[in-house]
Amino acid sequence: MIFKQFFEPESSTYTYLLADEKSHEAVLIDPVASEIEVYAHYLAQENLTLGFSLDTHVHADHVTGANALRQRFGCKTVLHRNSGVECGDIFITDRSAIRIGSMLIEARYTPGHTNACTSYVVGGMVFTGDALLINGCGRTDFQEGNASTLYDSIHQQLFSLADDTIVYPGHDYQGRLCSSIGQERLHNARLGNGRSKEEFIEIMSHLNLPYPQKIDTALPANKACGQA
Ligand SMILES: [Fe+2]
Repeated sequence: MIFKQFFEPESSTYTYLLADEKSHEAVLIDPVASEIEVYAHYLAQENLTLGFSLDTHVHADHVTGANALRQRFGCKTVLHRNSGVECGDIFITDRSAIRIGSMLIEARYTPGHTNACTSYVVGGMVFTGDALLINGCGRTDFQEGNASTLYDSIHQQLFSLADDTIVYPGHDYQGRLCSSIGQERLHNARLGNGRSKEEFIEIMSHLNLPYPQKIDTALPANKACGQA
């Protein structure tokens, strides 16, 4: 498998490229609109064909590159069916699978940060979007977020994976690249070491986070797949 992690510094967003070595088919997970040339250069350099762009959720902090990639490469835009994004090409649900070459990328519905969050599992890795972050998790105070739902999603869909599954999050604000399910299950500050749902809800209700700077422009753009 070909694997590449990209970083967009303004929103601290990680974008992931996965490709099948034999068929040279690729997917991008959470592409950022401003970074299209970076992805295009990498695809050309590695002689890859982009089949799909996957958004883990409707982002509030950056604009998705889904539509720009679709126009340039003819790839399909993939989102959860609860996203309310009508311009998608493929609407997935829990345990839907995307095939590229011999690789199957399995969707796991992990709502709670938003009502349409999806994580993707493939080859000992899980791409968690903003559901599970390294030593944290996505906020639950916007976009139909719900702390109780997020707790259940993380426990049932993510902490049930093997301990050595590598966690690749949608963001990290401290330069960390990845974690593991075992590490997060034991040591995540909000969820680790058997923290109860009641404790988690208490933590999430006292974060006192500022209003998301870009939400008023990013959400309408992302509901249009990132079209200007
Ligand atoms: Fe998010």
